[in-house]
Amino acid sequence: MTAANIPAAAEPMTPSRVEIKVRKNGSLLVTGDFSLVDHEGKEIARNNDKPNVSLCRCGHSARKPFCDGAHKACEFIDPPDPQPAV
Ligand code: FES
Repeated sequence: MTAANIPAAAEPMTPSRVEIKVRKNGSLLVTGDFSLVDHEGKEIARNNDKPNVSLCRCGHSARKPFCDGAHKACEFIDPPDPQPAV
C-alpha cells in the first residue's frame, strides 16, 4: 500500500460551541452551530444568512419562538438577579 492510497485518518470531532446570551430586558441571542426544532423534533426554518437567532423570552412575540421586538412595547424587565439552574 502506498501513501497515496492509505485512507486519511478521520478528522477528530470538535464539539461545536453554542453561546446563548441573555440580553438585558430582551431576547435570548443564540449563536453557533445549532438546530432549532419544534416539540416533535421538526426543524424550524430560520434565516441562514444570519449567524445567530434571537428567541423570545417575554412571551409577547407574534413570531414565537423568534423575538419580534415586542418586549419593548410590553416593557419586559429582567429579574434583578438570574437564578441558578435547578
Ligand atoms: S423577547 Fe423580544 S419579543 Fe419577546
